[in-house]
Amino acid sequence: MTPAIEAVDLRKRFGKTVALDGINLVAESGQVLAVLGPNGAGKTTFVRALSTLLRPDGGELRVFGHDVSKQPGSVRRLIGLAGQYAAVEPAMSGRENLEMAARLFGLDRKTAKHNAARALDQLGLDEKDAGRLVRTYSGGMRRKVDLAASLVGTPRLLLLDEPTTGLDPRSRIELWEAIRSLVEQGTDVLLTTQYLDEADHLASRIVIIDHGRVVAAGTPKELKARIGRNVIEVHVRRFEDLVPVARVLSSPNNGAPRIEEATRRVTLSVEAGIGRLRTVLGAIETAGLEVDDVSLRAPSLDEVFLALTGRPAEEKGAQ
Ligand SMILES: Nc1ncnc2c1ncn2[C@@H]1O[C@H](COP(=O)(O)OP(=O)(O)OP(=O)(O)O)[C@@H](O)[C@H]1O
Ligand SMILES: [Mg+2]
Repeated sequence: MTPAIEAVDLRKRFGKTVALDGINLVAESGQVLAVLGPNGAGKTTFVRALSTLLRPDGGELRVFGHDVSKQPGSVRRLIGLAGQYAAVEPAMSGRENLEMAARLFGLDRKTAKHNAARALDQLGLDEKDAGRLVRTYSGGMRRKVDLAASLVGTPRLLLLDEPTTGLDPRSRIELWEAIRSLVEQGTDVLLTTQYLDEADHLASRIVIIDHGRVVAAGTPKELKARIGRNVIEVHVRRFEDLVPVARVLSSPNNGAPRIEEATRRVTLSVEAGIGRLRTVLGAIETAGLEVDDVSLRAPSLDEVFLALTGRPAEEKGAQ
């Protein structure tokens, strides 16, 4: 079957900034692909190239076999795009926004109304919400309407650029559910995100990019197995306890603990499972050290980065 997306050595520069430095990736139809990367990694540039909004400098990029540079019209008919910043008209109702988007897409009035109603339904927006002016919506609802607008053209492939950045935890989960149900109904999705947990919840495959290059790719399970570890995080009450806690956490089986002075935290990468947590709690207690909080968690994007690239995600120069 033709892949939904195929990028071969894709390149894009803005003056001296190399935004895409030879991206290679394939997204099979039926998969949700998450492109994960820190600020400036090239995520939006990649999505804009896919949606024919910018022309790559080199390499190949195809959507269901159609070349984005040579057949932009065919590509546009296959995709829906929800950009990084919600593009909705606040002085119109949710429904009016969607009908307008459908008319702009070239649908006749009747089909536009029909598809707008279907998109509202797909995102769980009811009659009352749909009739209200968007300016009275919460951020989460705006995002939903924006997402709904990308569906009125019945796309085969939906491109979502950081769909939940800036939303509160509940709105994020609601939007995740909406995206998941779209996928169940057969829409292919490529989404970009800065959050490992988001990629983890939604994607069947993750491509991690940094400085416009793919640094790792695989299923969430494969990537985690590659990192293969959890993180114990200890919040100390007093600044002067940072070093003693770090000393207690050091053991030949673990990597070196990291001290974050600003947040008074010591973090330690440990093998998955709760065994090490027990030992660490015991050691802290024996040493008589006071802590505010101890937790065991999955690695953050920063830590995944650190593990894969040997440097923290914030240290990238491309800003
Ligand atoms: N139109 C432009 N003109 C000049 N530089 C640009 C332009 N668009 C992007 N860049 C640069 O290209 C690089 C990649 O940017 P891009 O917006 O793709 O990153 P991103 O991964 O989407 O980041 P974020 O998470 O902050 O949205 C950055 O260094 C950015 O400053
Ligand atoms: Mg972006």
